[in-house]
Amino acid sequence: MTEVLLEVRDLSTRIGGHWVHQGVDLTLSRGEVLALVGGSGSGKTTLLREIIGLQRPTQGEIRLFGETLFDDPRRQRRLRRRFGVLFQHGALFSAFSVYDNVAFPLRELKCLDEMTIRRLVMLKLEMVELLPRHARLMPAELSGGMIKRAALARALALEPELLLLDEPTAGLDPDRAERFIALIRTLDAELKLSVLFVSHDLATVAELASRVAVLADHRIVATGSLEALMQVEHPFVSRFFAPLKAHWRRGKGP
Ligand SMILES: Nc1ncnc2c1ncn2[C@@H]1O[C@H](COP(=O)(O)OP(=O)(O)O)[C@@H](O)[C@H]1O
Ligand SMILES: [Mg+2]
Repeated sequence: MTEVLLEVRDLSTRIGGHWVHQGVDLTLSRGEVLALVGGSGSGKTTLLREIIGLQRPTQGEIRLFGETLFDDPRRQRRLRRRFGVLFQHGALFSAFSVYDNVAFPLRELKCLDEMTIRRLVMLKLEMVELLPRHARLMPAELSGGMIKRAALARALALEPELLLLDEPTAGLDPDRAERFIALIRTLDAELKLSVLFVSHDLATVAELASRVAVLADHRIVATGSLEALMQVEHPFVSRFFAPLKAHWRRGKGP
C-alpha cells in the first residue's frame, strides 16, 4: 500500500484582501517526485511555506507524515527533522561559511559532538559534489550552482525522508541547471527520497517529475503524469505543456 506523506485538503489562503488559494487539494505518496507547477504569482511558494508550517492557511487542513504542524511546537520540532527544504531565495546564511551552513541543522539538534558533525558535513558536501576545500568558503565567494549545492547539502543534513525544493533551477544557466537536476535524480535514487518541487520551468519538470500537479485559478486544476497532462484542456495547462507536446509530436512523427 502506498503511504501518504503529505495531504492538503480544501486549503484556502487569503492575503491582503484577495484569495491566493481557494480549495487546494494535494497528495504526495512516499517515493514520488511531485512537481507543483503554476504561473508566477499563482501561490506556489506560499503553499510550500504553509506545508512546512511557516505560514498558516486561512482554511483547510495540511497533514505532513500524518500529523498537523500547527498546534504543537514539540511535534513541529520532531516533524521538522523529517523534511529538508531548499528555498529559491536566501538559500544560505550569508554570514556563515559553507561548513557552518551545513553544520547548522546538526548543531541545532544539540546532541552531536563536533567530530561527528565534521564527519557528517564533509559527507554531505561530497554527496552534492562539492570539494573539501569548498567548506571554508563564504556564500559570496560561490557561483550560483555551488550555492544551490551547498544549500542542498544543508537540506539533506538531517537525512530527511522528504525534500522540498522551490524553483531548484531558477537562476542557473541551462548547463548548470541540467547538472543540478542530474544530481537531484541521483540523490533521490540513492537516498530513496520523496520530493516535492515547485517549478515554472518545463524542462526541469520533464526531467525530474514522476507526477505533476498544476496550480491555476487558485486551486489544483490537474494532476497526473506528463503524458496525461498533455491531454488536459485548460488554458494554462495546454500553454505550459505545449512545447513538450510539439517536441514529442516531432519525435514520434515522420
Ligand atoms: N507576505 C505577502 N504579502 C503580500 N502578498 C503576498 C505575500 N506572500 C505572497 N503574496 C501574494 O500571494 C500571491 C502568490 O505568491 P507566491 O506564493 O510567491 O507565488 P509563486 O511562488 O507561485 O510565484 C502573489 O500574488 C503575491 O503577491
Ligand atoms: Mg515562488
